[in-house]
Amino acid sequence: MQKKFLFLSGSTRKGSFNTQLAKYCVDVAKTQNVDVEFIDLADYPMPLFNQDLEKEEGAPASARALKEKFIAANGFLIASPEYNSTITPVLKNTIDWLSRKYDESEPRLACFSDKAAAVVSAASGSLGGLRGLDPLRLLLAHIGVNVVGKQLAVGFAPQAFDENGALKTEQQVETINTIIKTMIRIG
Ligand SMILES: Cc1cc2nc3c(=O)[nH]c(=O)nc-3n(C[C@H](O)[C@H](O)[C@H](O)COP(=O)(O)O)c2cc1C
Repeated sequence: MQKKFLFLSGSTRKGSFNTQLAKYCVDVAKTQNVDVEFIDLADYPMPLFNQDLEKEEGAPASARALKEKFIAANGFLIASPEYNSTITPVLKNTIDWLSRKYDESEPRLACFSDKAAAVVSAASGSLGGLRGLDPLRLLLAHIGVNVVGKQLAVGFAPQAFDENGALKTEQQVETINTIIKTMIRIG
């Protein structure tokens, strides 16, 4: 059976560079004989996680729907900006909702345990959101995800993509190809 991977952006901003990067990664992965799906977190709005809310109302329908997709996937790629050098709130909130058991029969961390993942980033500054990748990969490792060692931070993002949405720099293209092939192999 074909392996399946989800591609997410840690930004729901219209015109997001990380969404552009995630979609470019989708195009690269499509050449690899795997099932790929881009997930726009704007399509899965979730209230700010709160244990009282969870107890009273359970998980929102958006979290349940996204959880099903994660459970069915072999892994996922996240392209995310850093906000104040760390994970964006929309990404953290999504991971928090997905990390919870929605019923007792569900295995612990079913969305994440033993899944493969890759992390990349983009920003207009020279570091390309690099500092946010450390806390992101640490978080993922702690919830059982096997995160690909290689990563890419795309600096000067407004100039980094061509008119077709592809990365312009050959070295970055090579790195993305390697990252995606590794994610697919371990997923
Ligand atoms: C709350 C906030 C904090 C930010 N902190 C950083 C930062 O620490 N480092 C950085 O390079 N850019 C930072 N930025 C700028 C973002 O990298 C920039 O807005 C980027 O375009 C967001 O990614 P997107 O294009 O995918 O939406 C911050 C932006 C916001 C809104």
